[in-house]
Amino acid sequence: MRTKDYIEIENEFGAHNYHPLDVVVEKAEGCWVTDVDGKKYLDCLAAYSAVNQGHCNPKIFKTFVEQASKVTLTSRAFRNDQLPKFYKKLNELTGYEMSLPMNSGAEAVESAIKLARRWAYDVKGVAENKAEIIVASGNFHGRTTTIVGFSDDPSSFKGFGPYCKEAFPMHEYGNLEDLRSKVTPNTAAVLIEPIQGEGGVVIPPDGYLKGVEKICKENNILFITDEIQSGLGRAGKLFAHYYEGVRPNMVIIGKALSGGFYPVSAVLADKNVMLVIKPGEHGSTFGGNPLGTAVAVRALEVLEEDNLIERSNEMGEYFMEKLRSIKSPMIDFVRGRGLWIGFVLKTKARRYCEMLKEEGILCKETHENIIRFAPPLIIKKEEIDWAIEKIEKVVKALDN
Ligand SMILES: Cc1ncc(COP(=O)(O)O)c(C=O)c1O
Repeated sequence: MRTKDYIEIENEFGAHNYHPLDVVVEKAEGCWVTDVDGKKYLDCLAAYSAVNQGHCNPKIFKTFVEQASKVTLTSRAFRNDQLPKFYKKLNELTGYEMSLPMNSGAEAVESAIKLARRWAYDVKGVAENKAEIIVASGNFHGRTTTIVGFSDDPSSFKGFGPYCKEAFPMHEYGNLEDLRSKVTPNTAAVLIEPIQGEGGVVIPPDGYLKGVEKICKENNILFITDEIQSGLGRAGKLFAHYYEGVRPNMVIIGKALSGGFYPVSAVLADKNVMLVIKPGEHGSTFGGNPLGTAVAVRALEVLEEDNLIERSNEMGEYFMEKLRSIKSPMIDFVRGRGLWIGFVLKTKARRYCEMLKEEGILCKETHENIIRFAPPLIIKKEEIDWAIEKIEKVVKALDN
């Protein structure tokens, strides 16, 4: 079977909830993927940052296979010998006293929402069913019905309601005055992405995160950052909120927590928040399973052992500098942090992505006019140089 045969089957028998580029990946290693026709591509999306450590990372793979040959799933009805190591590793790495393991990113966001609401009722004293969580314009936190209910992107929320809008007031991302105006005695938490990934690598104004923290402290509100995409090195630090030296009450992580082997997500918090949920009140059959947690510990170790956070910084600067040197009337600007780059065009980005694919680079447009370049953090200078040549070629071709 060739590319077109796979696509035909997919289109016929699969739900049409994505609009992927027409490349059918068969295998991958490091920063490179190979399609079913044998063509190689440089992956500049890294599974939306889930494969920060590179595709099929050999160290994580070894742990994955070893653990899969012992025990994969116990459910939380019984304890397993990997989960304690996962808790300990996250505590040592992040300084948060506790963590709550889940699977997908959206589930971890849901878990943080439940924790915040329960904290509001049990600790803050908000009346039952009145807790509000302030979110930001342009947010992306996943696809559950609760989460899409507080998105302002019609392709996320339209046709899936009804929603409980008053439970999630929205402020303008980056605007502290607007945030302050949304605070009420019932505000349980403020939930934001420290940099908005799906929004197109949107970096808030300097001082915003510090301001959010201050408003939260002054009003006895929990500050929650969703670091599912921005965290674990993608933005050039362990967490993107480190750029402003803040310490949120809850941090949500996922994606690269597994190195792309297995869905693992988690909420990090201190005991004063985490222990508001009691046994039997929240859980997931697969959350905290031995395979996922063993893989996650190894995925975190690889970030440290291979200095991937420093690399993200260094290579990100290099990539951005090179992108900025490309001259074209169609390029608006280049922004980013670490290896998380928004290449903002004055025109639609889809054509560029399709042509880049022909040249052997995989990336995806976001919000019509933005291309996000987010390769695995192991990318080398030579690979960036190679990519720049191709990107320049495509930009020039489309200029003409
Ligand atoms: C910031 C953020 N939060 C949550 C999610 C949802 O994660 P998942 O797709 O694993 O449910 C994503 C996914 O892109 C994300 O970028």
